[in-house]
Amino acid sequence: MRETKDSFGRSISYLRVSVTHRCNLKCAYCMPGASGATYPQGDMLTIRQITRLVSIFAPLGIRKVRLTGGEPLMRKGITALVRDLRAIRGIEEVAMTTNGVMLEQMAPALEEAGLSRINISLDTMRPERMRALSGHDVVETALRAIRTTAAKGAWPLKVNVVAIRGFNDDEIQDFARLAHELPIEVRFIEMMPTASNRLWDGRGCIPSAEIEETVRRDYELTPFPGSSSGPAVVYEVRGGAGRIGFVSPLSRHFCGDCNRMRLTAEGTLRSCLFSDREIDLRPGFAKDGPDGWFLEKFYQALAVKPEGHALTQGSAATCVRPMVAIGG
Ligand code: 5AD
Ligand code: SF4
Repeated sequence: MRETKDSFGRSISYLRVSVTHRCNLKCAYCMPGASGATYPQGDMLTIRQITRLVSIFAPLGIRKVRLTGGEPLMRKGITALVRDLRAIRGIEEVAMTTNGVMLEQMAPALEEAGLSRINISLDTMRPERMRALSGHDVVETALRAIRTTAAKGAWPLKVNVVAIRGFNDDEIQDFARLAHELPIEVRFIEMMPTASNRLWDGRGCIPSAEIEETVRRDYELTPFPGSSSGPAVVYEVRGGAGRIGFVSPLSRHFCGDCNRMRLTAEGTLRSCLFSDREIDLRPGFAKDGPDGWFLEKFYQALAVKPEGHALTQGSAATCVRPMVAIGG
């Protein structure tokens, strides 16, 4: 297997594929409100086009694909996509990040298709807060999906919690308790100033160190030996079933270890969450371009991948695409 490096020597092995901009929730940090910014929203790539692109890029050293959105389970043909991607040589893992709302009904098909692992996003366990954040009453459904997925044990399960001051800072112990009770990894994520983040005012982000201190008041954390890769710092919970991780894009930049490239739902390569310098792959489909044309574009995207971001808690949004159109 080849290894492909960007201009800063980072080896790129992970492709995040957004399969739709649609979502059944409207989380305020992710989805623009009625008056929110617009962003490119053309036709989406077909399932076949996505599969073709991944099979062209896999030989460059892409080993892991994560399907994101919007909400990936809203995309028609998502199960077939999982199956097709799993069949590509070199792709060792096909993962998904979902809000979990449609997961229970789709889990058997996804399991059968060969999905490797799953992350469920859940920022609050209080129904009224979820309604305020996302416009929907889905706490019970998401929690049920978490519990049944954990019990079934078909996938390693992570639960993503975006920590937001004044919103869920009094639920940190509740989420820690969930990681104590279930064989899951609860990951607290520092909220980022993504475009159209309606909750961003420079004060909403809670530094991981603060969350960790809160957790440690009730739980003993010991470093998890398998946590050396990826952006999270992970701990085992003493005497518990699960783990707790901290993803700290603002207080501990992990850009130096970034191994990812992103494919947007409409078919552009995005080399960094915070850079709008995207490389458009759509002309290649319009003129029936050969594989080499798409490879060339991948190298172009690598060439513009920035060394990192310099975001801090006081930063304003630095890009035009809201999170719902990037996929985290
Ligand atoms: N800051 C931090 N995390 C975010 N996510 C979405 N928007 C933001 C933001 N502005 C999270 C989602 C999901 C993951 C893909 O990214 O909650 O868990
Ligand atoms: Fe990678 Fe860009 Fe995120 Fe840094 S900000 S970790 S370079 S995607």
